[in-house]
Amino acid sequence: MFKINENYLKLPGSYLFSTIGKKVAAYQEKNPDRKIIRLGIGDVTQPLAPAVIEALHNAVDEMGDSATFHGYAPDLGYEFLRKAIAVNDYAQRGCDIQPDEIFVSDGAKCDSGNIQEIFSIDNKIAVCDPVYPVYVDTNVMAGRTGTYDSVKEMWSDVIYMPCTQENGFVPELPEAAPDIIYLCFPNNPTGSTITKSGLQAWVDYANRTGAVIIYDAAYEAYISEKDVPHSIYECEGARTCAIELRSFSKNAGFTGVRLGFTVVPRDLKAGDVPLHDLWARRHGTKYNGAPYIVQRAGEAVYSDAGKTQLKEQVAYYMKNAKIILEGLKKAGYSVSGGVNAPYIWLKTPGSMTSWEFFDHLLFKAGVVGTPGAGFGPSGEGYFRLTAFGSHENTIEAIERIKKLG
Ligand code: MLT
Repeated sequence: MFKINENYLKLPGSYLFSTIGKKVAAYQEKNPDRKIIRLGIGDVTQPLAPAVIEALHNAVDEMGDSATFHGYAPDLGYEFLRKAIAVNDYAQRGCDIQPDEIFVSDGAKCDSGNIQEIFSIDNKIAVCDPVYPVYVDTNVMAGRTGTYDSVKEMWSDVIYMPCTQENGFVPELPEAAPDIIYLCFPNNPTGSTITKSGLQAWVDYANRTGAVIIYDAAYEAYISEKDVPHSIYECEGARTCAIELRSFSKNAGFTGVRLGFTVVPRDLKAGDVPLHDLWARRHGTKYNGAPYIVQRAGEAVYSDAGKTQLKEQVAYYMKNAKIILEGLKKAGYSVSGGVNAPYIWLKTPGSMTSWEFFDHLLFKAGVVGTPGAGFGPSGEGYFRLTAFGSHENTIEAIERIKKLG
């Protein structure tokens, strides 16, 4: 008889955003006339930029002509896209990243889940708490996290690095020695970020202890303040200790188009084994590449027109962030984030747990957010709202929340 991967049975419940989706669907079914405003999952709402649409149309036409048709994409992704990324995201920020260190994929969620495969099961992971659930859940599936304590909602073999109001939502360097450190800045879910010197301390720590940092920079386009690094490779020594994950979902609205990339510098080695070779082997074996038309759309993100249009799109969402931040402050909530990130992190009122507040908001205001506890034990007592709604819906949601008193 075949055996299953029993690690899957250790996972508590369903994936956070599936649980929320089911709860909202059940409420909507019972209240079909209620207009629900969704500020829960970080999904964009604005249409693709005209420069992206034009590139998509052109690429579709190419695919319809035998002279310009494209089959399987090259393993690492098309060079036109990897070059555009290397120049715009890295060289222009003073980072030394070459096109052949960039692996194009269909998004940062898959990469952040899959990257752990190239590491031994014996590695100890450290995560921020609260944290994007994919990092932890995929390590659970791999059997790297030990046993689950359902009271504490913690795994025995995971190092949790609390990110709370007290430490400005930036974790302290861990005393226990992790092998793999997941960092995400600007942060999901707290919307906080890190200074360049703060991130440099992590890079130094990783190089000193022989740890690897998996740095998720999916939200870098939302950075508005100076001295906030857009890439970990802005830090000295990051080439020997860090992998960076990037996405086109949040900066260019590709959540339904799917495109991202992972950077594995050639200098990042375990002994004399470059991690680049392992990820290249994995990528080549398990993945057949993001579609040609999507990679052309990605290239358009870096065109002059694309850059201008997407800057406006980011500004649109950040205007929402400001409305949420200011509106909630006026209503007496304690809030943070929303300045360098599209997420606003608020303290739940009184002694309400984050899931109680989720129900309260859904039932009383018809607004969906994400309970902090869904991101880890230190998320309890907090709640996340996203700035990715439409402008009109964001204003209405905040008005409804204000009326709750
Ligand atoms: C979120 O809401 O945290 C994000 O949408 C998750 C993701 O990008 O996969």
